[in-house]
Amino acid sequence: MRPVFHFTPPANWMNDPNGLVFFDGEWHLFYQHNPYADTWGHMHWGHAVSQDLLHWTHLPIALHEDLVREAMIFSGSAAVDWHNTSHLGNRNQPPLIAAYTEHTKHEQAQCLAYSTDRGRTWTPFAENPVIAIGAREFRDPKLFWHTSTQRWVMACALPDQHKVRFYASADLRHWQWLSDFGPAGAVQGVWECPDLFPLTLDDGSGQQRWVLKVDDTQFGAQYFVGHFDGEVFLCDDPPTRVRQIDCGADFYAAQSWNDAPNRRHVWLAWMNNWAYAQRTPTTPWRGMMTAPRELALQRRDGEIYLVQRPIAELAHLRGAGLRCINAGFEQVNRQLSELCGVALELDLRLKCAENAQVFLSIRRGAAEETIVGYRADQAQLCIDRTRSGNVAFAPQFDGLHTAICPLREGELHLHVLIDLHSVELFADGGRVILSDLVFPTSPEATLSLETQGLVSVTALNAWRLG
Ligand code: FRU
Repeated sequence: MRPVFHFTPPANWMNDPNGLVFFDGEWHLFYQHNPYADTWGHMHWGHAVSQDLLHWTHLPIALHEDLVREAMIFSGSAAVDWHNTSHLGNRNQPPLIAAYTEHTKHEQAQCLAYSTDRGRTWTPFAENPVIAIGAREFRDPKLFWHTSTQRWVMACALPDQHKVRFYASADLRHWQWLSDFGPAGAVQGVWECPDLFPLTLDDGSGQQRWVLKVDDTQFGAQYFVGHFDGEVFLCDDPPTRVRQIDCGADFYAAQSWNDAPNRRHVWLAWMNNWAYAQRTPTTPWRGMMTAPRELALQRRDGEIYLVQRPIAELAHLRGAGLRCINAGFEQVNRQLSELCGVALELDLRLKCAENAQVFLSIRRGAAEETIVGYRADQAQLCIDRTRSGNVAFAPQFDGLHTAICPLREGELHLHVLIDLHSVELFADGGRVILSDLVFPTSPEATLSLETQGLVSVTALNAWRLG
């Protein structure tokens, strides 16, 4: 079950991505990790680095649970202290700073650690915890440098209050409470893992908006679009508006990289779901990240949307491929049948009549297939994993996930990433996303396309990913 191009820990349990920071040519990926078992517990920060976001080198555990005090290391983030505000490095060698939650039976509080050797070893601050409010539910600090106010900002979740609380600091040791955002949007569960970052609109206006992402344990990943002046997050939408980031079942605790080069905004998420995460049938590890995704803000029809696209680097993994333009279905399927591999990428543009239906079948066998489906009359896109292979390992896994996705000038655009046990579907230019795990019984993926009503293939590109 080891995927081809998705990050997994060498062994044992992994949940949220933590401490995502780019420094000195390396993309750091830390993660919630239990080094003793393949289920949740004894949380540490595991660690890996990559130069291209595709090939990862595993490194020793970065932050350790304190067994004596029974303090676990919960989720958090990392940033480069370029101005050496912490006085822990110097101008030529800025320290890396990790912000994490220390979890004990009695309290969750925010702590910092630093590294002056490119993230290889970490030392907790002597002043820890730097923010403690005596709360049992207070976690997942997202630390970043706020350029216009020239100070640090930390966003933390107050999970059971459905709030994100913002703090500021000049020196990382003294923190001032700025404001709270929420409750708003989806509040069925509890809130976790906030992220906050600015993006420039793609309409050429040069305007910026801030995106506040926060996960709700019942609803999943949601986002708010608004303004952040270094003190208060003001949402553009009414508080009842709910914006879903991913309509699939397996996208949680996403975090964007701090200090990414070339003004890039890249994130990934834990590709799993707490409803069955502790039972997914993989060994000797459990837990996988999504493919890294480039983020953008799109203005369309007077609305602003978050869009996600697979990172450009992914194209380096492309091997044998096929290409059809304005082809008939027989030709398309003949070509598709020649393509098979454990991991595949597909980019498909279809012209669809108003009553058309499309079924892209992945790994079709006698008793097994995963279907990416579309119904034009309901503008409904879905991933159907009810017959995707092993669906019985947990009662909540079986199912079909849908998203609304209207045709654009009669066209449907699907970009699909398939790995050994996942399907990530980017539709409508990355505005509509479905990410789902699947556990097929045969590793080789095949593709076939069926339609009802008037459908024609305007362009198809597909590759095996190595
Ligand atoms: C989210 C989460 C975080 C917490 C971590 C513990 O999946 O519950 O809120 O810090 O996992 O592992």
